[in-house]
Amino acid sequence: MKQQILKKTADGSFTIYLPEMGEQYHSMNGAITESNHVFIEKGYLFHKETNPSVFEVGFGTGLNCLLTILQAQKLKRPTVYYSVEKYPLNIEVVQNLDYGSFFSDEASTWFDKIHSCPWEEEVEISDYFKLCKTSTDLTTKSFLPERNFDVIYFDAFGPDKQPEMWTPEIFERISRITQNGGVFVTYSAKGQVRRDLTTAGYRMERLPGPPGKKQMLRGIKVDSKL
Ligand SMILES: C[S@@+](CC[C@H](N)C(=O)[O-])C[C@H]1O[C@@H](n2cnc3c(N)ncnc32)[C@H](O)[C@@H]1O
Repeated sequence: MKQQILKKTADGSFTIYLPEMGEQYHSMNGAITESNHVFIEKGYLFHKETNPSVFEVGFGTGLNCLLTILQAQKLKRPTVYYSVEKYPLNIEVVQNLDYGSFFSDEASTWFDKIHSCPWEEEVEISDYFKLCKTSTDLTTKSFLPERNFDVIYFDAFGPDKQPEMWTPEIFERISRITQNGGVFVTYSAKGQVRRDLTTAGYRMERLPGPPGKKQMLRGIKVDSKL
């Protein structure tokens, strides 16, 4: 990976800035705040499945994963979490982010564990949380997990910075692994993204975004057989 610079965001949590791309991993208005708003509140907590499965695009810093563990533990809600990442971060960068310390000693243990655990296998991280990380390129046509998911966290870099991740073909592939009634959330509110997700089989809505962002998108997978 290219040069990575740690930046403090408005809520005190850090994110990574990639100068060559002119893009950061999270909003400068608050990394934890944004992840909690977009992925946890509007996605994970919105879906009512008691044993949910989550598929994440872009494992990155593991922040969405950690926040999901915290909720799974709090709600005693057994959760399976699959995540795909093309450029796994090196451990020193992750240690400097230190997201666990914002919450508890237990959260720090889980944060270490999600980064140190092996890739390409399902690993038990805590009583209510199992993780499977896959190190691959989502744009590779053949990649598709062999199971369906209740909640999709679509957390790629922005559509203007990485358009190859926001294509009708990728949305269609992800739609195929989304359960009927499953939830797709992303921080982007772009019109083209909304239209392409509708074509891929989701009933889309615009929701209020996290601080600094007017709107975000949520889709519900519509049963194509109905
Ligand atoms: C906006 S960051 C978010 C990461 C993460 N969800 C987090 O909270 O830190 C986007 C992530 O997508 C990953 N990524 C970029 N291109 C990818 C690809 N072709 N396939 C899989 N992951 C990719 C990046 O390396 C980065 O970790």
